[in-house]
Amino acid sequence: MFGIFRVQSDAVRFDVCGRTSKVQSTPDEKSVSRRLLPVLVQPRLGPAMTLDGILAKLKNSLRFLRVAVARNLARTLNMLGRGAFGSRAIRAARDAPIIGSFVRTLLAFYQPFSTLDAAEIYIRRYFSSGHDHPYHSYIHTRFGEMTRESDYPVLYHLAPIASQLRSVFDLGGSVGNLFYAYDRELHLSPHLRWAINDLPHKKQLALDYARLKGENRIGFTDQFSDASGVDLFIVTGALHYFKDKLAAMLGGLDRLPKIVVVNRSPFSKKGDIVTVHDGGQYAVACMLHDIDTFVQGMINLGYELVARWPVHERRTQVPLFPELSDTYWGFCFRLNSVCMIEGT
Ligand SMILES: C[S@@+](CC[C@H](N)C(=O)[O-])C[C@H]1O[C@@H](n2cnc3c(N)ncnc32)[C@H](O)[C@@H]1O
Repeated sequence: MFGIFRVQSDAVRFDVCGRTSKVQSTPDEKSVSRRLLPVLVQPRLGPAMTLDGILAKLKNSLRFLRVAVARNLARTLNMLGRGAFGSRAIRAARDAPIIGSFVRTLLAFYQPFSTLDAAEIYIRRYFSSGHDHPYHSYIHTRFGEMTRESDYPVLYHLAPIASQLRSVFDLGGSVGNLFYAYDRELHLSPHLRWAINDLPHKKQLALDYARLKGENRIGFTDQFSDASGVDLFIVTGALHYFKDKLAAMLGGLDRLPKIVVVNRSPFSKKGDIVTVHDGGQYAVACMLHDIDTFVQGMINLGYELVARWPVHERRTQVPLFPELSDTYWGFCFRLNSVCMIEGT
């Protein structure tokens, strides 16, 4: 009970953007996850030991056990998969019918899925929280206060045109943390409109945070069509939550965005694959889009690939597919027919 209370207490602290300064130290994602992990899966002790109560406790304990087995097995496979011999052994086991299906069962939410929806439904058996977990809002407000290593390539490509940017569409933009990080470095125009698009529960947080920061350039939209013709379309750390290809999403707009930046994104080196992002306290389904199809789709749409960069802060690891192990990636595309400024 104490643990559950502690999560709620932290949630309040994390959730209210303006009060994050009260948090003394910045715990990194993993250490917070580790600290809170037992809390998520701890069986709740009810006051009366009714049959229902005992069954619920049993179910919770089984869930706890399955989560622990899945995580430890995933970790072990990821480690083994780094070596050539281990990688071969994993692929052989995966492709053997009986062993393969046994390992998938043990991997539970770490197994590959056929669709994002199927994965999301399965994952919710083990985790009640996904993108709505308060940790997200907390950490994203903290990210707004810092410039992360993988932001620098974006800053490099935006610097020459920063003063001319008037409209930005930030897909999966959370509380708008990218805006604050980039504005600090690039001194964006006072006439800029930065539209955050995220899940509905983020809207109030993003707007409250902007108010707290005295920022009137930030807005929130739930309409993807608002990305039509923007100067900059940016999606950072979120493309893998969309099942559609970015080229297909952008292709549905009346007018294409001039510059497209994709950053901190996991991809697959071979075909699309649906897996899980395990945040400790929460888990979400994600799709690793085939990287070549992604790039080719953007080129076919009329974009030129200006640059791509590896993002070493994060790593893609799919336990049964060691051959897909890779860094995350970042990309900058420019619409062929458009010049934002001379030479750009
Ligand atoms: C890892 S965060 C990235 C936040 C920010 N862009 C950054 O780089 O720090 C992923 C964001 O994608 C959002 N997201 C997930 N699914 C989404 C959807 N279907 N539509 C809009 N936003 C979504 C989540 O709510 C979350 O804020």
